[in-house]
Amino acid sequence: MRKTVIAGNWKMNNDLAQSEKLIVELKNLLQNEKPNCDVIVCPPFTSLSEASKLLKGSQIKLGAQNMHFEENGAFTGEISASMLKSVGCEYVILGHSERRAIFGESDEMINKKIKKALAAGLKPIFCVGELLEERETGITNDVIKKQVLLGLAGITEAEMKNIIIAYEPVWAIGTGKTASPAQAQEVHEFIRDLIEIDYSLEIANDVTIQYGGSVKPDNAKELLSQKDIDGALVGGACLKADSFIGIIKGA
Ligand code: PGA
Repeated sequence: MRKTVIAGNWKMNNDLAQSEKLIVELKNLLQNEKPNCDVIVCPPFTSLSEASKLLKGSQIKLGAQNMHFEENGAFTGEISASMLKSVGCEYVILGHSERRAIFGESDEMINKKIKKALAAGLKPIFCVGELLEERETGITNDVIKKQVLLGLAGITEAEMKNIIIAYEPVWAIGTGKTASPAQAQEVHEFIRDLIEIDYSLEIANDVTIQYGGSVKPDNAKELLSQKDIDGALVGGACLKADSFIGIIKGA
């Protein structure tokens, strides 16, 4: 049985004090719940160390939002996988569409990052998704296939056990426009089929595929009830403790 995973991508939000407040609120609200899923929060780099301390002993796991593929050196402004490990991260979001679009990340760079993260013992949350014009011209599957195959090039079967895939249609991110459960399910199934062809039925059945793009407490349940949707990567709605918990309850 594959895991349902709800992850909160805080993006460039929350300074240290705000991060601490949100984490304490989440911990308190989750204390008496037995969530039916794994829960991950991905604060900005500057809050990771403190978040890690606050999360000790809780059921919430810690992730980062990005990293560089090199070990160390002259890469001003960058953060390495081992640095993330050293502050207690277990997960790292890689290939988010904002990284692809705004910061020019290519499939090849994302592949290098995935390999480096795995080698350092981090579990990548690997994001893929099509643009609105790609969906409208009917090339969604081609785009997804290219992103999945190039992103996972050279990744072994054993390594696949530590990867989460997140399908995030770019037109649904931060726009309030969610893919319909049927639209999302169709792409999730397509991704699972790609994994089966490239790896095996067993790996395909085990891999967690999250949906992301305007997930909210009131649409989470229906999305998550689709057969191939195994969780959510949440942006806007994870910044308020009660709405993030609402999504977790929807799982
Ligand atoms: P959103 O963001 O929930 O605000 O649409 C999702 C994401 O970018 O991961």
